[in-house]
Amino acid sequence: MVHGGAGALDNVKDEKTAVRYLESIRGVLEHGRQVMELGGSALEAAEACASLLEDDPVFNAGCGSVLNENGQVEMDAAIMDGRDLAAGAVAAVQNIANPVQLARLVMTESEHVMLIAEGAMRFAEHCGMDLAPDHYFFTPDRIEQYKEARLHHRIMLDHDSSDEDSEDQKYGTIGAIARDPQGNLAAATSTGGIVNKRMGRVGDSPIIGAGVYADNETCAVSATGYGEEFMRSVISKTIADFIYMQEMDAVEATRAGIEYLTRKVRGRGGVIVIDREGRCSSGFTTRKMIHGWIEHGGESVARF
Ligand code: GLY
Repeated sequence: MVHGGAGALDNVKDEKTAVRYLESIRGVLEHGRQVMELGGSALEAAEACASLLEDDPVFNAGCGSVLNENGQVEMDAAIMDGRDLAAGAVAAVQNIANPVQLARLVMTESEHVMLIAEGAMRFAEHCGMDLAPDHYFFTPDRIEQYKEARLHHRIMLDHDSSDEDSEDQKYGTIGAIARDPQGNLAAATSTGGIVNKRMGRVGDSPIIGAGVYADNETCAVSATGYGEEFMRSVISKTIADFIYMQEMDAVEATRAGIEYLTRKVRGRGGVIVIDREGRCSSGFTTRKMIHGWIEHGGESVARF
């Protein structure tokens, strides 16, 4: 399963734009299928799909990341392996084309779970990862959106120009979760965060249990939404706990998780979930969420 953000998605006004998003999602899903058909693990599929979404400028992650209050890109990402709860995360990183790949290096090549800002970037160089130039990230759309946010002295959650409490916005993040034929689960989430956010602000995406979670005994989850609400409700782990403690399946646990998110913090956004049996589920409190899935090797499906 993959997602590319939640909200009203009023920027998807015409058929052509809608098709562009849906084709991108389906292409990423088919790539994930290929990775696993060639023997790749759930972790490899999740990382590969998240990387492709980071490479597509229409999504708020990687090269399409939004700009902070200083007109800079600061990105967050995490990856988790359901086999042993191994996890890696990076926060407030700059000039990294694929933060999800750096998160994986934190998981496999360091003794830590999370590295932030300059320390994470030094670690990237230490691992031989090339830094991407500034112009790789500054798309005309993002500069326009940043100027608009500054003009109106507000924080915006993604492409749209409406105010913070309106549904006319897109809560941008990308995510990929997978289950391989061996029954292993993995999850990855990556984001540029919120337009005009404070320098140093970190959202839910790199927080294990909030924006991402994977455990072979329960499920894999990736979240997209207003990060502060997803952190306060620890939504991804909460959904896993519904499965662990109440023996729910993915569909029941997603429903229970979305009910909890709404009731406790009026959370805005959504989640994708795959349980240990390979059942796929999604839920969101916004009008739409760009997402897609391949269930039990069937057709790829993409939806808003
Ligand atoms: N969910 C992305 C963020 O709030 O940064």
